[in-house]
Amino acid sequence: MNKLTTLSEFIVERQSDFPFAKGELSRLLSAIRLAAKVVNREVNKAGLVDDILGSAGEENVQGEQQQKLDVYANEKMISALRAQQEVCGIGSEENEDIIAFEQGQAVWGKYVVMMDPLDGSSNIDVNVSIGTIFSIYRRKSKPGTVATIEDFLQPGLDMVAGGYVIYGSSTMLVFSTGHGVNGFTLDTSIGVFCLSHPNMKIPEDGNIYSINEGNYKQFPEGVKRYIKYCQEEDEATDRPYTSRYIGSLVADFHRNLIKGGIYIYPQTGANPNGKLRLMYENIPLAFLVEQAGGKASDGGRRIMSIEPRHLHQRTPLFIGSKKMVENAEAFMKEYSPSEVSTAE
Ligand code: AHG
Ligand code: MN
Ligand code: MN
Repeated sequence: MNKLTTLSEFIVERQSDFPFAKGELSRLLSAIRLAAKVVNREVNKAGLVDDILGSAGEENVQGEQQQKLDVYANEKMISALRAQQEVCGIGSEENEDIIAFEQGQAVWGKYVVMMDPLDGSSNIDVNVSIGTIFSIYRRKSKPGTVATIEDFLQPGLDMVAGGYVIYGSSTMLVFSTGHGVNGFTLDTSIGVFCLSHPNMKIPEDGNIYSINEGNYKQFPEGVKRYIKYCQEEDEATDRPYTSRYIGSLVADFHRNLIKGGIYIYPQTGANPNGKLRLMYENIPLAFLVEQAGGKASDGGRRIMSIEPRHLHQRTPLFIGSKKMVENAEAFMKEYSPSEVSTAE
């Protein structure tokens, strides 16, 4: 039997990849790992326990219905991160404002975390994969003071680590500290994440396209034309491509990362900036895809270099295999030039 590398062993071995103080990364990731296991436990029994399924009866800041598991995952992530004392604040999809820790040692924490605690929440009730997305930045303000919004509004290029947990047919933690992407699968019998996908690379080209085609009529002309291109027959380029759309960004992204493909959530009539959130959905996945050799843009601009203006900002997302994203961008440039922004 091959020797298994656990997540803890991996972090110790790669300590030098993290340019900051020893132990900080490992404590941060332990908090995320612990919260992931707790959320995983609840996700797994979602069908059994009445009071976990369904809506919490409240709307979150985006006006969407919060699911009970959203609220639960948010609380677990916040309390795990607060307890580790490396983080001075959190920005979450489920909280309108940043949560700045004011008490105890946490105010000295050198990092901030942004997260989508439960992604794909419309899939909870139907036993389809969901996820958690997170990103970690160094704070800008002085340790010992209360974190401010400026600590959070940093471009992806300043991110120090990020990743996601996917609660799928198995549970995986996939993350990067800027030195490639590694995936760990949770062995539920022993409760340990083990390295199962070392040094993940996304194929340069692929034949899967993922987009909610129900919104077709509202798409920019460039996206409409690109979809038609995907559907045309051409043996040389392996077309027609295969259409796959789960409706959980993490799960759609994870599949395309492994198999090669493109995921698009463009601007639509209803959502002129797209639906997905820049800070805790698009940037962390853009960081991972670039680390894996792929590409992410809003159709024109590189996601990683966008200067964020507010916590819950939305941008279109074109992400996946490099050649596919470049091709989709070319369609945007040709057929929807006014909707392609190039400004940073
Ligand atoms: P969340 O559950 O965190 O609100 O995210 C839902 C997102 C994303 O996971 C998914 O890809 C997308 O919404 C699906 O949107 P549509 O239903 O509009 O396709
Ligand atoms: Mn989400
Ligand atoms: Mn969410």
